Parts: sequence; C-alpha cells; structure tokens
Amino acid sequence: MSVDNLQQPSKQQQTSPLRIAVLVSGNGSNLQVLIDAMQAGALPINIVGVISNRDDAYAITRAQQTNIPVTVLSHTANGKRMAIKTFETHASAQFATWKPDLIVLAGFMRVLSAAFIDSTPAPMINLHPALLPAYKGMNTHQRAVQAGERYHGCSVHVVTVELDAGQVLTQAVLNVNAKDNADSLQTRVQVLEHQLLPWTILLLAKGVLPLNANDKLPDTISHLPILPLRLCLDN
Ligand code: GAR
Repeated sequence: MSVDNLQQPSKQQQTSPLRIAVLVSGNGSNLQVLIDAMQAGALPINIVGVISNRDDAYAITRAQQTNIPVTVLSHTANGKRMAIKTFETHASAQFATWKPDLIVLAGFMRVLSAAFIDSTPAPMINLHPALLPAYKGMNTHQRAVQAGERYHGCSVHVVTVELDAGQVLTQAVLNVNAKDNADSLQTRVQVLEHQLLPWTILLLAKGVLPLNANDKLPDTISHLPILPLRLCLDN
C-alpha cells in the first residue's frame, strides 16, 4: 500500500479500539509491551491477531498466553523454504478474517513483496532499529558503532515498497557512549522501542498523527515543523 493510499479517517477518530494485527519473527518484547498496554487500558487497541514467520519465536508464546489468535507461517518446513508468495497468501487470508485497522511489523524479519504491500487492507507500519533514513536494512547497531555515530535510536515508519524508506512518523534518540558496542546499543535501543511503539500507536489511534502523509496535521500539532516527531529519552 502506498503512502498516498494510507487513509483511515473515520478509524483515526474512532472511540472503539483500533484493531491491530502484529507480524513478528522473534522474542516479541515489543508485542509484549503492546499487550501490557492494551490490558492496562493505556492504549485504545485490540490486538486481533499475530502472525509469526518462525515457529520458534517466543512472541508466539506471548500471544498464546493472552489468548490472542496466532498464525504461524514458518519460513522453513521439512528443510524447504516457504515462498514469500505463499506466506503472503495466508497472511492476506488472516487479514480478511481479522479486519485490522492497522498492521504493525514488530521485529518482523522477512521482506514483503511490492504486490502484498500495495494491497494490504490497512496501513502498515514498521519498527526499525535505527534513525532512518540512516542504516536501513540489517545490523544497524554494528554499523552505527563502526561509523562512530554520536546519536542512534529507532524509528517507526510507514511501510512502502522500498525497504525501510516510507514516511518516518516518529523516532526516539539516544547518545552513543564511548563504551557502547553493538550489544549494548541493541539493549539501550530496545528500551526506547518499548516507549516509541506504543506512543506512536497512541498518536495514530487518537488521530494526532495522520496515516496519510498527505493529510494536514491536526491543529493541535500543526505548529510542529515536520515529521518525524522525536522522543529524546536517553537511557
Ligand atoms: C526490534 O529491535 C526491532 O527494532 C527489530 O527487531 C527487534 C525485535 O525485537 N526489527 C528489525 O530489525 C526490522 N528490520 P522483539 O522481537 O523483542 O520485539
């Protein structure tokens, strides 16, 4: 789905919870934050389903413990790789059932096809462990350390066909310390992610952030110059 098509005007203003489908591949700590916030009533969301492309992802357990429907579309079975088209066909069928208002990639590590991205029934956002447009792709922490970056962090952006290149909605930033390495940065950035993702979804659910990049920002934040909105939370 292109940025231009990302319109949810009625849903953004809605009082009923935003229906969210979450795609995961691993630990699922960000999924857990969303679950906790939903259960605490801190986020007006209803996680209607989780899709994992790995059958060993701990995120599956997290969803099951909360009775959230989980679909496992393992990328390998009997030594064979599941083609992305097959994954996407099953994922689309789940979306048709779950009817999400928003699709959230939270640690989802497969690259989706252009056809799928352009045809999702709801806007799709991705959590990325770097300050986009810097460090698209993998090994972001290692590359930031090697480049001697002074600042690092994470971004939530709209998913478009080009990898990690859609409109960045929000970012959280930290100072890179002299002692930091890829592992310490990963740990520190994850602390930020656990605040950035629910904050971003809250802004989307409340209609403060428009999912359509062509929409004007609501009056409440129209004095802000440009996206992304930034959280500066050093940890
Ligand atoms: C997160 O750090 C997220 O930024 C990253 O995977 C991790 C998942 O953690 N995503 C990507 O690298 C996407 N390209 P989690 O499974 O504990 O939420």
